[in-house]
Amino acid sequence: MARLVVVSNRVSAPKSGTRAGGLEVAVMASLKHNPGIWFGWSGRVSVKTLETRTIESDRISFVLTDLPKEAYEEYYYGFANRVLWPILHYRLDLAEFSRQDLSGYTKVNEHFAEELHKILRPDDVVWVHDYHFLLLAKALRERGHQNRIGFFLHTPFPPVEIIAGLPHHERIISALCHYDLVGFQTEIDAANFARYVESECQYPGNRKDGYNTGERVVQIGDFPVGIETESFAKMARRAIKSSFVSGVLASLSGRAMIIGVDRLDYSKGIEHRIAAFERFLEHHPDWRNNVTYLQISPKSRSAIPEYMDMERNVSTIVGRLNGTYGEASWTPVRYVNKAHTRTALAGLYRGSRAALVTPLRDGMNLVAKEYIAAQDPEDPGVLILSRFAGAAMECKPALLVNPYDSEAVAAAIHRALSMPFEERRARYEALYKIIAANDIQDWPGRFLKALTGSPTLAASIT
Ligand code: UDP
Ligand code: G6P
Repeated sequence: MARLVVVSNRVSAPKSGTRAGGLEVAVMASLKHNPGIWFGWSGRVSVKTLETRTIESDRISFVLTDLPKEAYEEYYYGFANRVLWPILHYRLDLAEFSRQDLSGYTKVNEHFAEELHKILRPDDVVWVHDYHFLLLAKALRERGHQNRIGFFLHTPFPPVEIIAGLPHHERIISALCHYDLVGFQTEIDAANFARYVESECQYPGNRKDGYNTGERVVQIGDFPVGIETESFAKMARRAIKSSFVSGVLASLSGRAMIIGVDRLDYSKGIEHRIAAFERFLEHHPDWRNNVTYLQISPKSRSAIPEYMDMERNVSTIVGRLNGTYGEASWTPVRYVNKAHTRTALAGLYRGSRAALVTPLRDGMNLVAKEYIAAQDPEDPGVLILSRFAGAAMECKPALLVNPYDSEAVAAAIHRALSMPFEERRARYEALYKIIAANDIQDWPGRFLKALTGSPTLAASIT
């Protein structure tokens, strides 16, 4: 029987601890409904022997491989996160290209292909996730694999005018055409890639029927990631009563809470957002001492200079704001770097009058959807959402904002906090309907159907 083999850099293996990232959350939720093999990095680097081991848990086989130390630095901290990540988020100005890093990235893609080669059967269906593995299908094809291989990009895909700024893009981006299906979060991302294939690779075909590379027809699709809406709502109902969440709410002494939850990443627009909150307090003195903004931001990729700069900036502006507006009995911004469990987040979302989800650019943004799912229908909070998050394509009834316009975000904060119940409820109901209609439960089926023609890939695991 055909098996599903999922591949990603990060893997939510048992006992891997609380981490924050949409890919892990989405893949874990989809494997729950389509058990298979999850192949990825073990979290270990080694200078000597590289082990690959298997852990069985909940009908999923986690196959985890170590990575060579030097190549790992070049691959993860170098090419994947200092070149691809910024460029995919429209930040050519932040990209730091080095030939050495590209070589490490290529080596790790080859290593993954080599390890997969040992376990792949001809009828296995392979589903590769994210920008760490643009070259993987090519490396597998070179080892003779004719399996159906799909790729899903969790980040945005920018227009060709930006992606062409990536050195060697002709080799790196066109390698995606070795996949049978390349999937994106939104129609805009899919259209940008189709235009890349047309103008840079010049393969005949079109967006709807695919492009003929001579070896295969590569299909392009959009498959927006969702969440487990109902179970998240249920989790929030319970979590708000937990001692942790009740403790946080009690500590507000009746003040309203606004929440932001993002990895500490420059793409999330945290600095712009704090500036907008500062504007809001400046323009609305009546809200001073009556609202607390809780920003939960686990540190991410902290060894990378652009992330270090950002960490410093955020600490500085939070300190300045609290110093300017705070009082002995009130801290306007509570800024926390600790990662929280999704259960704790669910309760905190439910206890917040508004959420600020204002990335400068984001593939999807699951926090936006989680915030909606978590609300109390009898007293729902308001989602303030960047128009540059993939989630904005679906979540139109949110208060959509331009995250660069701090005056507009400040006005949206005021509008959210003063919004009458009827309007809050109407927006919440419309949003809940939208996210429930695109539940994560259906996501793997839609992708696998486009990849194989069959939505129910019953996977048997050996
Ligand atoms: N998350 C978490 N703990 C935290 C912060 C975030 O579990 O302390 C989860 C959050 O609930 C969400 C995911 O991490 O499911 C973040 O996904 P999103 O798409 O919003 O952003 P990404 O980090 O993938 O860019
Ligand atoms: C985003 C990326 C994922 C990544 C996650 C956390 O969601 O799309 O591929 O796993 O961030 O980042 P990290 O570098 O810690 O894996």
